[in-house]
Amino acid sequence: MTPRTYFLETFGCQMNVLDSELVDGQLRDMGLRPAATPEQADVVLFNTCSVRQHAEDKVMSRLGRLKRQKTRRPETVIGVIGCMAERQKEDLFVHVPHLDLICGPGEIHRLPALIERVWQHHDRVVALAGSQSRRTDVLQRGLIEDDLEALDLSRRPGQGGGGLQAYVRVQRGCDKFCTYCIVPLTRGPERSRPPDHVVTEARRLADSGFREITLLGQTVNSYLYGEDGRTVRFAQLLERVHDIESLDRIRFVTSFPADWDEDIFRVMRDCPRICPYLHIPAQSGSDRILKAMKRGYTVAEYLDLMDLARKYCPDIALAGDMIVGFCGETEDDFRATVELVRRVQYKSLFVFKYSPRPGTAADRNREDDVPYDVKVRRNNELLRVQSEVSLRHRRSLIGSTVQVLVEGFSKSARKLRSMEPSAAGSTQGSESSPRTAPTPPPATARQLVGRTPHDLIAVFDGDPSLIGAIAAVQVESASALTLFGRVQSVVSPSRSH
Ligand code: SAH
Ligand code: SF4
Ligand code: F3S
Repeated sequence: MTPRTYFLETFGCQMNVLDSELVDGQLRDMGLRPAATPEQADVVLFNTCSVRQHAEDKVMSRLGRLKRQKTRRPETVIGVIGCMAERQKEDLFVHVPHLDLICGPGEIHRLPALIERVWQHHDRVVALAGSQSRRTDVLQRGLIEDDLEALDLSRRPGQGGGGLQAYVRVQRGCDKFCTYCIVPLTRGPERSRPPDHVVTEARRLADSGFREITLLGQTVNSYLYGEDGRTVRFAQLLERVHDIESLDRIRFVTSFPADWDEDIFRVMRDCPRICPYLHIPAQSGSDRILKAMKRGYTVAEYLDLMDLARKYCPDIALAGDMIVGFCGETEDDFRATVELVRRVQYKSLFVFKYSPRPGTAADRNREDDVPYDVKVRRNNELLRVQSEVSLRHRRSLIGSTVQVLVEGFSKSARKLRSMEPSAAGSTQGSESSPRTAPTPPPATARQLVGRTPHDLIAVFDGDPSLIGAIAAVQVESASALTLFGRVQSVVSPSRSH
């Protein structure tokens, strides 16, 4: 009998990417093989995000396309896992009658059993925080946590140094309840993982060849764990992870400004392999709006914190998120946001149009009163301002040398390679001329891409054997998003070659 196959598509944040990696491992352990498309798969799972309506709409459209497949091949298992499952719960069955499985992000360790149940009983299955099935299966909260921990710890890192960068969770859930945000409702309360588990996982990844790890938490710097009558805070956890000498780079996301602890800056300053990079969203540059969002800081406090960051780590790269068009945002509030973005000089900024989420305080108590076209205008203007900032910042690096962890072929080079008849396995692509490649500078099939410790993307010509290495690259030109350069030397060769 040919083995059954699965297709898993992931939406949303790094937490979901990590969860999908774990789900992927579980499905393989069940003997399933990956399929190239949902149409070819026996099990189709979408690991979903609810943070904005748009994220949910994308999944609904994917699910809609599977309706015919389910009629043709009723034995296909179709499932929604992740945050959208937790937010919409059984209502999803009403909107998507051909759905078989709903599983929240806190229940993914149960997926193999759930899939088996669909196969055996041709039944619909639901696993959600607080659902009946969970209450009967698992009586104590502690047990659930143990199961989730066991799932994280069971992760098998890429064999033989296959991987370069990996995520390690330090915290689950979120307790902040920013008024616009669905995450505390989909991921539950904040719980920090035992430091030993975090360090063990990071060490295992390092031992199998991973060079960079990113510690993950919704408010990662709020990490707090009680151990032997003492508490371990994030600064101490970072130090413990930094003790793993074979790790070249350590990052962490996302930081929450109101919970900052100066010790974290001290550790960042003193530990050379912790990247000088901070993703620390402000969300707005207006005190009035920050208060309405319940973020817990003022603009002045946020700016003081950014100044302090630069005092400890003068070349620190700051990244942020902003929401435009939150309830009641006036033109003056928006101007204040533009002002903040100019003042902070982020190396990158993610801008989102406010999207009301059912169940959040903002959706209950405030009116979504900024017209959509105004949100679009503010969104575009803010991106334009950031693009100027980004370009100026990247251009200031021309002539300097940056250390790049080489990840692989750049996208444009990958496209060109896939057009090569040998790579594509057909002659079709060869009709496309490389001259259609974006300029400047022209992409070549040997163009590689990687990231600097500051999380800047660098593209350069180089031998594929550099993939996995850390290379010194001299910056020759720059766009708002990318540095272009030339390899000067190999700082540390690839571990897998
Ligand atoms: N925990 C992180 C971010 C989690 S969600 C933090 O607190 O910074 C990622 C980003 O999505 C947020 O930073 C915010 O900018 C954006 N976001 C969250 N809810 C949103 C909503 N309802 N509408 C638009 N953007 C939203
Ligand atoms: Fe959402 Fe706020 Fe928690 Fe971030 S800190 S996940 S924005 S509630
Ligand atoms: Fe989305 Fe859930 Fe992450 S709502 S942003 S996938 S925690």
